[in-house]
Amino acid sequence: MQQVTVLGTGVLGSQIIFQAAYSGKDVVAYDISDEILVKLPERWEYLKPLYLRDLPDATPEKLDAAVSRIRATSDLADAVSDADLVIEAVPERLDIKRDTWAKVSAAAPGKTVFATNSSTLLPSDIVSAVDRPAKFLALHFANEVWRNNTGEVMAQEHTDPDVFEQVATFAEEIGMVAIRVKKEQPGYVLNSLLVPLLDAATDLWVRGVADFETIDLTWRKATGAPLGPFQIYDVVGMPTPYNLNKDSDDPVKREFAETLKRDYIDQGRLGVAVGKGFYDYA
Ligand SMILES: NC(=O)c1ccc[n+]([C@@H]2O[C@H](COP(=O)([O-])OP(=O)(O)OC[C@H]3O[C@@H](n4cnc5c(N)ncnc54)[C@H](O)[C@@H]3O)[C@@H](O)[C@H]2O)c1
Repeated sequence: MQQVTVLGTGVLGSQIIFQAAYSGKDVVAYDISDEILVKLPERWEYLKPLYLRDLPDATPEKLDAAVSRIRATSDLADAVSDADLVIEAVPERLDIKRDTWAKVSAAAPGKTVFATNSSTLLPSDIVSAVDRPAKFLALHFANEVWRNNTGEVMAQEHTDPDVFEQVATFAEEIGMVAIRVKKEQPGYVLNSLLVPLLDAATDLWVRGVADFETIDLTWRKATGAPLGPFQIYDVVGMPTPYNLNKDSDDPVKREFAETLKRDYIDQGRLGVAVGKGFYDYA
């Protein structure tokens, strides 16, 4: 899989494009307008220092070579015309995903394998919009793909096992640790583990069982984990847990959301990205 097309050049799409190009793939970046695409060079300049900071083998020459392997277009038929693999990272809305895949199905050659990066939709929610169910599956990246380098490969019931393996191999070729998820699971492996941990930590804190520093300390000391759950919230950033909890049926989760808003979000304590959240990172 050498010719790769990525649909959507937002937070994750741009990272997948750059990571694949950095790993030697020829990448086509597709988005809905040229006004969006002209901003991509700024995005590469933003990513380059992060690669130099985090990856020991990164050099300015390698990063420039990555950029030279990226071609941008807002013409979908052109974008997919020679793709071995299309990775879709368009907004997390079922209607947009299905519409996108129906159009790609009509335009892509028979060889092309289709992968969605959706975090919360299952491939089986989308597959009926696709003309080749055997070549459709999920390939899910984590934010900051160059260092949080898991590639969760998840099949739906029609996925050809050979295609599954090809995509897992592709993930490894672009520097990911391939996580083979053999049947559909909302949240894949990572969030199936992480969400219950974070929910349990929230519950202990909101009900006053322990303060958040103690909860984190317990988890770190007893398991050897580098981060406790509230440190993980700081990495994720407060808006995500706020949005996930604010309309919950569970009063404990709603209280958590209210506390996050009042004591953290409204105080500018959004997490590691701004230098302060539950903890100070100055
Ligand atoms: N942000 C994360 O941390 C993260 C992590 C893993 C997976 N994901 C998944 O990646 C996907 C994209 O998320 P994101 O955070 O990059 O979103 P985003 O909003 O940053 O980017 C979406 C991009 O899609 C483009 N777009 C809009 N409509 C389109 C269309 N019809 N066709 C093609 N492109 C279109 C937008 O212009 C934008 O560039 C989602 O499915 C999300 O679940 C996100």
